[in-house]
Amino acid sequence: MLPKEKQYVHWQEGQLSRSALWLSESNQPAPARIVLVDDQTKADYAYRLACEGSALLWRGDFHNARQLLQAMARRIDQPVRRKSRKSANPTQQSISQLFHQQRQAQAQRARILGSVLLELDADYICQLRRAPELTSACQAAFGPLDEPCLIALRDLQGALGAAQWQEKGVPITGLNLSIFPHYGVFAPTRHEYVQLLLDAPLPAQHDLAFDIGTGTGLLAIILAQRGVKQVVATDINPRALTCAQENFERLKLAAVQLQQADFFPTEQPLANLIVCNPPWLPSKPSSPLEFAVYDANSNMLRGFLQGAGAYLAPQGEIWLILSDLAEHLELRSREQLLDWFAEANLTVNYRLDTQPKHGRSQDTTDPLHSARSAEITSLWCLSKN
Ligand SMILES: C[S@@+](CC[C@H](N)C(=O)[O-])C[C@H]1O[C@@H](n2cnc3c(N)ncnc32)[C@H](O)[C@@H]1O
Repeated sequence: MLPKEKQYVHWQEGQLSRSALWLSESNQPAPARIVLVDDQTKADYAYRLACEGSALLWRGDFHNARQLLQAMARRIDQPVRRKSRKSANPTQQSISQLFHQQRQAQAQRARILGSVLLELDADYICQLRRAPELTSACQAAFGPLDEPCLIALRDLQGALGAAQWQEKGVPITGLNLSIFPHYGVFAPTRHEYVQLLLDAPLPAQHDLAFDIGTGTGLLAIILAQRGVKQVVATDINPRALTCAQENFERLKLAAVQLQQADFFPTEQPLANLIVCNPPWLPSKPSSPLEFAVYDANSNMLRGFLQGAGAYLAPQGEIWLILSDLAEHLELRSREQLLDWFAEANLTVNYRLDTQPKHGRSQDTTDPLHSARSAEITSLWCLSKN
């Protein structure tokens, strides 16, 4: 990944022309119009400005900024809930149309809520009344900052939330351990698939395994703990590599190596086992933070299937972890998936299934409930023809 080019944002404050670094992890463009707002600003007015495309630079109390954001979120969500109840009838709209509508609504929501901005000094110091200490969370999430910046309050909240995950960890059911995710790295809070990895019989030879797209390192850890002698884990996201390294060190796992790679590691012998839990929904990610879930045109899934055979030892196995939510949303068919296996000269040895139990699959007010409640996550054990 190339380092991002610095971008500056300019605004008028009384007689002063001001400018600062524009910091947006969700890759929102620098705002063209900035309006100053504070504790006196009414939520309806702020909401209207944000809907019209203005950014709101907060000059009041820190906690009141969070309340403004909540009030704006309520204004967005109420009509969405009403609308979605009306349009939940699948005879009017196909489920894939509903999915794309929901994605658009989410992007619009993120844009509106992302328009409440704060100014921070170098080292992420916030001069607002009742502002918390932000430096350590922001440095961990965004790296060092040596000049003032404008940043969306939502991005700051993301960094503060991630710092909590990073400190407390996510306990993994079925394994006696916690995983510590970093900002911008897929957090395995839904991890029913762990049991699939524990249940699948290891190939007879298991000297070397690859974990492609390792994220926090969870799958590599399971393989190492199950007795695979050497695991090489890759990810395209540098944050994932730092995070996985930290998790391996906490567990004192010496048998795991990391490589930053687009798919497969280089300079390695052929592997007996290659595992991958790719992003599972074929849709364009709307920000870099979505790369772990959304995969435009199933590019990662197909790239993995096409490439894996060349890295696999004779009698080696591929374990693909994949949810079928995309099939229930009519974004990809089962036939298509089986065709991709066949095109890559891969045969299915067996499949293990599990049903997600997370809250969203039980939310009957969700217009996508029929798809979410039918979701199955599978471990496909594949081998070369
Ligand atoms: C759904 S997450 C899975 C993370 C982890 N394996 C787990 O099961 O918790 C998908 C991961 O694939 C990574 N990824 C996406 N495209 C990739 C590519 N072309 N090469 C390597 N990793 C990639 C993402 O950065 C992300 O960490």
